[in-house]
Amino acid sequence: MACFTLYNPVKLHFGKGALDKLGKEAGEYGKKALLILGKGSVKANGSYHEAVSKLKEGSVEVFEYSGIKSNPIIEDIEKAAELGRKKKVNMVIGLGGGSVIDSAKIIALAISNPESPWDIVTGKVRPKSALPVICILTLAATGTEMNPYAVVQNTKLKKKVGYGHKLMYPKISFLDPTFTLSVPKNYTAYGIVDLIAHSLEAYFGKGEASLSDRFTLAIIKEAIKNGPELLENLNNYELREKIMYAATCALNGITFVGKESPDWGVHDIGHTLSVLYDIPHGASLSIAYPAWLKLQSQRIPEKIIELGYNVFATSKVDDTIYKLEYFFKMLGSPIKLSQAGINLDEKAKEQLFKTMAKNKVSGVAHTLSEEDYRFLIEEML
Ligand code: NZQ
Ligand code: ZN
Repeated sequence: MACFTLYNPVKLHFGKGALDKLGKEAGEYGKKALLILGKGSVKANGSYHEAVSKLKEGSVEVFEYSGIKSNPIIEDIEKAAELGRKKKVNMVIGLGGGSVIDSAKIIALAISNPESPWDIVTGKVRPKSALPVICILTLAATGTEMNPYAVVQNTKLKKKVGYGHKLMYPKISFLDPTFTLSVPKNYTAYGIVDLIAHSLEAYFGKGEASLSDRFTLAIIKEAIKNGPELLENLNNYELREKIMYAATCALNGITFVGKESPDWGVHDIGHTLSVLYDIPHGASLSIAYPAWLKLQSQRIPEKIIELGYNVFATSKVDDTIYKLEYFFKMLGSPIKLSQAGINLDEKAKEQLFKTMAKNKVSGVAHTLSEEDYRFLIEEML
């Protein structure tokens, strides 16, 4: 096992009525909040109304920035930070899915630091401080509610980057699975894929930590047991609750305690697919994971067999990959680019290859070569 420091300062309120404590607890961080929203789902499902009225009860004045797109872009972060600075807010509250929460985290940094947020997330400058972030999650998928990461894209540069900094841990996260009841079938499926993908990135990460692997396999099993049932019963609170908690655990650090790092190679591939084709994050992963596993089948067969044995009751590499691929397909998530409506001719394949090469797409434990990119592209078509 690698040496480790365990640190996760997020206070998480989970369950029905979790938002009851919002006004009082937000009020402890000041009297003015910048509320970050997506494109409207929170107004339709009641979470916006409830959050704003609780903030009012806590005498917190709210300024809004709405319109964050799925796969968020740096321009929105710059504009929202400008509003936050102008209104002299004391905190940033994200209400929505991962795209909104990730944006809120970077906005909280951007308000407190004069440098451009793109320079911060690409590591050119180190932020010194950040406003407190409060998260109200409405979609189970990313784990952003309990981690210090955020992902943002720069469409002009064709780059989607992940950034981590301890200043971006939310101070408090409110998770009421009721708010996820309105998530449509496709995004519910993408969320299940994403949480399995986070678990696999840890499982195939650098270093060995058997207890962490056992936690990880348990999270995958939880998703495989409850995911398909949930897709047949989107209004089932208990199933929403199980998937929401599984998604939080899949990326709150517990799965890679004692490892040097998760791999992140498949996410790196997925981010390139997102920035080129604006494909939903989970869908990019259900396409990339089977291809990546096929690439690794001769390189790390024992690790793949251990996964198959524990999760799919098989002791064969090919069967494990087939069963994972079949599971994603059964959820209704694409396993090929063509199933996501992306049909690449030779020129488009070359563009994808060049973008992967330019962005140096790779994993920490399993580095990827240009020859590997060619293999992956053919497998993903
Ligand atoms: O924009 P609105 O109207 O809010 O609609 C959203 C969006 O269209 C909708 N939605 C959210 N909650 C809903 C709902 N619709 C109905 N009812 C609700 N309760 O769902 C759509 C997708 O939302 P989005 O936030 O984009 O999805 P997700 O939570 O999957 O977040 C994806 C983003 O997170 C990043 C991804 O790269 C991507 O940019 N990730 C962040 C990570 C992190 N911070 O740790 C790790 C992940 O690996 C991931 O990379
Ligand atoms: Zn992810």
